[in-house]
Amino acid sequence: MLKQLHIRPEQAIDQEAIERVIQAAFLTAIYSNQTEHCLVNDLRKAQALSLSLVAEYQQQIIGHIAFSKVAIDEEDQGWYGLAPLAVDPNWQNQGVGVALVEAGLKALKALDAAGCVVLGDPDYYGRFGFQASPHLSLADVPAAYFLGLRFKEHAVLGTVEYHAAFANYA
Ligand SMILES: CC(C)(COP(=O)(O)OP(=O)(O)OC[C@H]1O[C@@H](n2cnc3c(N)ncnc32)[C@H](O)[C@@H]1OP(=O)(O)O)[C@@H](O)C(=O)NCCC(=O)NCCS
Repeated sequence: MLKQLHIRPEQAIDQEAIERVIQAAFLTAIYSNQTEHCLVNDLRKAQALSLSLVAEYQQQIIGHIAFSKVAIDEEDQGWYGLAPLAVDPNWQNQGVGVALVEAGLKALKALDAAGCVVLGDPDYYGRFGFQASPHLSLADVPAAYFLGLRFKEHAVLGTVEYHAAFANYA
């Protein structure tokens, strides 16, 4: 873990740096269509970027994480979707991603969130407690990669829908 890594909410001045980090992180990702930075910009414009955190190291933005509300069976049940998560390739594998996810989940709980979903690698997200659930599904994706993490006791059941902005980049 990098010493003096600072995780904080984005500020208006960070937007270009965030775009650069996201583009660089997804540049060679085979599962990406390299539009994740556009998604974040659209969510921000739609005021649907519920939480947007940056990882800052030596006055440089080296990572970013975004969360937006999701609906479950067309209702707001206090759940959020984590997407995207990006770490500058020059700074990967040094704990930046983990620090961003941990800070994001902590901030979501402070918002009284009921839970969070993510479409991603179970090996990576499993360490935070995310797991595939037969109770939550997302259309057209393999169930093993759609993961949920519940913050509250009561169970939820249903089909998850991300913000409409996601449909433009599917
Ligand atoms: C995935 C990503 C955010 C991880 O960030 P990071 O700062 O490099 O990761 P950390 O240093 O916090 O964690 C390192 C751990 O993650 C694992 N890891 C790194 N990239 C991974 C990936 N793409 N898939 C699965 N595991 C991954 C490492 O093997 C390491 O595991 P270990 O702790 O068991 O040794 C970063 O590699 C990235 O930006 N990738 C491109 C964009 C992307 O795939 N985003 C996630 C999907 S939205």
